[in-house]
Amino acid sequence: MELLCGNAEPEPRNLSLGGHVGFDSLPDQLVSKSVTQGFSFNILCVGETGIGKSTLMNTLFNTTFETEEASHHEECVRLRPQTYDLQESNVHLKLTIVDAVGFGDQINKDDSYRPIVDYIDTQFENYLQEELKIRRSLFDYHDTRIHVCLYFITPTGHSLKSLDLVTMKKLDSKVNIIPIIAKADTISKSELHKFKIKIMGELVSNGVQIYQFPTDDEAVAEINAVMNAHLPFAVVGSTEEVKVGNKLVRARQYPWGVVQVENENHCDFVKLREMLIRVNMEDLREQTHSRHYELYRRCKLEEMGFQDSDGDSQPFSLQETYEAKRKEFLSELQRKEEEMRQMFVNKVKETELELKEKERELHEKFEHLKRIHQEEKRKVEEKRRELEEETNAFNCRKAAMEALQSQALHATSQQPLRKDKDKKKVGGWSSIYSVTIP
Ligand code: GTP
Ligand code: MG
Repeated sequence: MELLCGNAEPEPRNLSLGGHVGFDSLPDQLVSKSVTQGFSFNILCVGETGIGKSTLMNTLFNTTFETEEASHHEECVRLRPQTYDLQESNVHLKLTIVDAVGFGDQINKDDSYRPIVDYIDTQFENYLQEELKIRRSLFDYHDTRIHVCLYFITPTGHSLKSLDLVTMKKLDSKVNIIPIIAKADTISKSELHKFKIKIMGELVSNGVQIYQFPTDDEAVAEINAVMNAHLPFAVVGSTEEVKVGNKLVRARQYPWGVVQVENENHCDFVKLREMLIRVNMEDLREQTHSRHYELYRRCKLEEMGFQDSDGDSQPFSLQETYEAKRKEFLSELQRKEEEMRQMFVNKVKETELELKEKERELHEKFEHLKRIHQEEKRKVEEKRRELEEETNAFNCRKAAMEALQSQALHATSQQPLRKDKDKKKVGGWSSIYSVTIP
């Protein structure tokens, strides 16, 4: 009997089977289950407006997706996802094509990468939320995480633009990037060769990690290694069919000749289709889950306070982390509450002081007004007294005057009487006179 030391797991022993058991059918079961379940694949197309994104998607999947031409007047980059159900033989593919509409059209391109990064993160977050649910249904969950980003490089130029470098740098830890030179029919063969070398040199010197076709699976190691050397693929897209010889092929026709999309001497379209769809689609899906999503999940959980082991390498306990987080949250809440209470008390004190100050000012104003009022009242009183005195004096004078007047009047009224008397006397005389002296 083996003795187990600590947590060390016992080595499994090799046993041979006596006959056919049947678990060699597991891969078939897996395939059958996957086929029933269907697959999802999400492509993000990043490139300037009108660079040929939609045409290339139509050419790659040999169909016509619903597309709208983007205007050159978008205020900021906007992500537009569209999902389609495709079927080939008995395999169902839920394909989502996400267009970065308006990319490269803004005057200030500093933040052009941000909506793209946010979109990718949101898809990771949605998946994480589903994983963390008590009742999760990852089996039929519509996985919208971006499996590949086709980065369209403009063929007219000497090298990558800084917008390309910045965007790819921001995306490379979140998504598998496959750079492609779009509209490769507009660049000559020798120039294309130099352009490819230049681009790869710039990506390396700026530390941009692009997706490398895996070389660990023997079945595809060789082709993938060869294809890695052809990056970035120079592609031409077209859904137009042109007769070449006695065959109809997808091509672009020019006055001087025909560029055949699927002719490897003309462009790398076939290489791209081979690598993206026929050989490495599953690896792209897997890399998204095991590398990019894993990184997002790890950072997010660490940010939330979860960790695999503490300083003493004790095993991670969800319960303990939860309790610690809860305590931290409660003490933070308490601190905030205390802070707010203190703020409230201070505010009340401040207001109280302000009110007191206002009251004091009002009181002072009132006292001042009272003083003015009293002064005014005193003055009015004085004036009234003066006026009264004047009135009295006037009345006295008036009375004196009246007395005088009445005296005078009396005097004058006595005079005619006397005069009359005198007159009468004189009249007597005068009548005598009048008689006597007519
Ligand atoms: P938006 O969605 O509006 O940003 O444009 P897009 O990037 O989807 O470009 P689209 O596929 O609509 O193509 C724009 C123009 O470029 C069309 O006139 C296409 O015919 C042309 N075009 C597409 N692919 C190629 C190509 O490989 N070579 C050349 N020369 N022209 C192309
Ligand atoms: Mg388009």
